[in-house]
Amino acid sequence: MNSIPMLILEDIHKFYDNNEVLKGITLDIKKGELVTFVGPSGCGKTTLLRIIGGFTPLDSGRVILDNQKIDHLPPNLRDTRICFQNYALFPHMTVSENISYGLKIKKWKKNKIDERVEELLKLVKLEGLGERMIDKLSGGQQQRVAVARALSLEPKVLLLDEPLSNLDANLRLIMRGEIRKLQERLKITTIFVTHDQFEAMSISDRIVVLRDGEIQQIGPPIEIYEHPTNEFIAAFVGYVNFLDGVVDILDIGLNRAIASTPIGKIQFVPERSFSAGEKVKLVIRPETIELSRSEPATKLNVFQGNVEIGMYVGSLAKYTVQVMGEKIIIDQSNPRETGVFKTNEKIYLSIPENIHVLMRQ
Ligand SMILES: Nc1ncnc2c1ncn2[C@@H]1O[C@H](COP(=O)(O)OP(=O)(O)O)[C@@H](O)[C@H]1O
Ligand SMILES: [Mg+2]
Repeated sequence: MNSIPMLILEDIHKFYDNNEVLKGITLDIKKGELVTFVGPSGCGKTTLLRIIGGFTPLDSGRVILDNQKIDHLPPNLRDTRICFQNYALFPHMTVSENISYGLKIKKWKKNKIDERVEELLKLVKLEGLGERMIDKLSGGQQQRVAVARALSLEPKVLLLDEPLSNLDANLRLIMRGEIRKLQERLKITTIFVTHDQFEAMSISDRIVVLRDGEIQQIGPPIEIYEHPTNEFIAAFVGYVNFLDGVVDILDIGLNRAIASTPIGKIQFVPERSFSAGEKVKLVIRPETIELSRSEPATKLNVFQGNVEIGMYVGSLAKYTVQVMGEKIIIDQSNPRETGVFKTNEKIYLSIPENIHVLMRQ
């Protein structure tokens, strides 16, 4: 991947009647990058993808592909290919006929088509299934045919609309990895749409979080998870404990701040400057809190709590712990027999110092 933008979206607006479903989308996607659009149902993911692919007209803004403005062009004259959510395969055709459809329209010679189809079947691991009818394939195989068809003309940008949502959980996990491997091998610029935040986290170079037709945040998965810019994003990517606080001591020299919260004073490393008296919201992920039976040697950010609910799920134990009337969710990874806490047990919580902190109105 390099830093040349392959696709540029400039201030895209879209209305359906009086309903503005895209409210000024601006975004650069680099060559070879896999970017995921993620957000709740109805936030505008499919509409944006269709605008890029040429299936839905935009009301204002520009789409620029490889230095060329393309938003006025019909889909077949754009170097983009879309895989629709329901795959939209031709059910009365074989696998090969589906994959070669676009090549025939472009009037490729028969021997070239056969060669290309073989290559694509191999690529998506469907060798030997070229003559099979679509309805005799499993969901995962159909998904691969759809990807092969989309790749047949080597588009500059591949657009995948919730490509895995029709598959069962196990297959989804496998196909997720395969799509990523294929994308990396072909170095094809790809936009992947999903409403599943974990899918987005695991597959992307960068994630674009959408909400009500607006971009909330753009960044690599780790940045979105550890430095969400608002409460919506923090809660959308995994569970989170929010603690309201007020900054009462700030020591820039020592690079630390203290906030008063309902459970007591919490010291944190400030990611930006805060002023005393500022209202904040501490964002504390369940897996960052440590639990112990005996009082930890370090007294920093240590609180006493009472186990309200404990759920042992093998690789993980999930607890709801009451601390000064607040319910705190904690994930204990790799719990061992002696380390599993019981309901009503008194325990100590250690909260880390590197806490992400949001503004609070
Ligand atoms: N053809 C259409 N006519 C009217 N409204 C539409 C149409 N397509 C989508 N919408 C509306 O636009 C919004 C965004 O839809 P969509 O892009 O499908 O969201 P997502 O893919 O994120 O679930 C929704 O409120 C939806 O109801
Ligand atoms: Mg959609």
